[in-house]
Amino acid sequence: MTGLRQDGLRSPRPPYRPPAPQPQPRPLGAFALLGALRRNPLECWARPHFEQPIVEGGLPVGHVLLVHEPAAIRHVLLENTANYQKDRLQRRVLSAGLSDGLLSAEGEQWRVQRRALAPIFAHKQVRDFAPAMIEAGKAMMERWLGMGDDAEIDVAVEMTRLTLDVLERTIFSDGLGRDAESIRLAMKVYFAAIGKISPLDLIGAPDFVPRLARWRARSTLRFFEAAIDEVIATRRRLLAERPDAAPRDILTLLLNALDAESGARMSEAEVRSNILTFISAGHETTANALTWAMFLLSQSDEWRERIEAEAQREYSGPVEGLVDRLVETRAVIEEAIRLYPPIAAISRVALGPDQLGDKRVRRGSLIVISPYVLHRHRLLWDRPDMFDPTRFLGPARTTIDRFSYLPFGVGPRICIGHAFALHEATLVLAMAASRFSFALKEGARIWPMLRVTLRPENGLPMIIRRKAAPPRNDARRLETSAA
Ligand code: HEM
Repeated sequence: MTGLRQDGLRSPRPPYRPPAPQPQPRPLGAFALLGALRRNPLECWARPHFEQPIVEGGLPVGHVLLVHEPAAIRHVLLENTANYQKDRLQRRVLSAGLSDGLLSAEGEQWRVQRRALAPIFAHKQVRDFAPAMIEAGKAMMERWLGMGDDAEIDVAVEMTRLTLDVLERTIFSDGLGRDAESIRLAMKVYFAAIGKISPLDLIGAPDFVPRLARWRARSTLRFFEAAIDEVIATRRRLLAERPDAAPRDILTLLLNALDAESGARMSEAEVRSNILTFISAGHETTANALTWAMFLLSQSDEWRERIEAEAQREYSGPVEGLVDRLVETRAVIEEAIRLYPPIAAISRVALGPDQLGDKRVRRGSLIVISPYVLHRHRLLWDRPDMFDPTRFLGPARTTIDRFSYLPFGVGPRICIGHAFALHEATLVLAMAASRFSFALKEGARIWPMLRVTLRPENGLPMIIRRKAAPPRNDARRLETSAA
């Protein structure tokens, strides 16, 4: 059980219960289920899913097991991965059709890529990306300063812009070239078009059947892909001619990545697909984590004060190790993605029969693990629907079962960008909280909606105000880190 403060006491103020649909009293019938899936898949979940370890059934087609029990999850995602493959729909939706990228590759292609790409996202390397993350945060706040006091912003839009900026600065640190603005515009169209789930995807039509959204945007898609190819080719030339002059960003690391076993480099298609995969998998997810964290802070005076105090204290210390010292800020992010995990379902298809607890797995069974349900499961969490970041502080954190908390998945296919995302979100939340105060716009109704990722249905409108005095040494430290 989790939820006690590190000192063993309950929060002094009553904890906040953030908005979420009430679970249905019992699992929905096929007709109601299809309707809820179309409206908002979060509304499909029923009480048994939050109360029982494994529930059978779900979609009207095929055999489905909804698995929210740590030992069974461990079995599927870690111990017997050879029997469980990512299912087609999840691959299409999450990987945006980038079939050569890490998110959707399988078998040997995935193994070779994962080995080669792992060092790019290792903790040590991620720390080197911190200055670029801080720079992007500064650019966002400079824009906010220009809006004047009491300006209204949509935090969801702002955070999406920020996370794209961070990826641009860490992947292509020497810029996107002459056409940067047109490339950014095309990128928006690109991800909007390929991220849309077409009815053809649901019925499993092969990739060569054109999807309407993609077909409509085809000239923009072609322009964008060609522009990215051009940026890659330019860097490749630089690496061949003057390797010392090339920046040490994700693009260089990717082009230099070697498979330790075979010594092979990635193909052109794999390099391009992985760049697009990182942008696609890394921007909306991290933006949602930040957006939900900002929302939760706006509803809790206690935690807002704690985060502001921590940010002001820690930003006046050295930039090195800053994220490690922002302990409470990180706990707020972790609690935000417990309550609102950006990826709300992980699914696998069984290649052969197996056994999970007292349930039989058949060949072709669909295993669905929803971090959203798991993180609010009555058997696993204390006061699961309450906002309480102390769960992630001190000794309380060590009581959380590794297989009860899966915002980034677990096992060999765990999110490769998880350290990157937590680093970025912690830095940016602390920066924003130390410089600005945020208040939810009066009358705004915030409601979680699952559309590929879990986001506030109508955005997050907030009124921002610059804080009277910037924290001690803050400006100097940020200048230093940006140098
Ligand atoms: C808060 C932010 C993020 C969340 C919640 C998140 C969540 C996830 C989850 C749950 C998976 C596993 C899916 C499965 O097992 O079926 C995953 C995989 C992946 N994520 Fe993330 N992610 C985030 C940020 C990022 C970032 C910043 C990047 C890259 C820059 C990234 C790149 C990937 C890739 C490439 C995979 C596939 C890994 C593999 O299959 O080997 N993600 N992510």
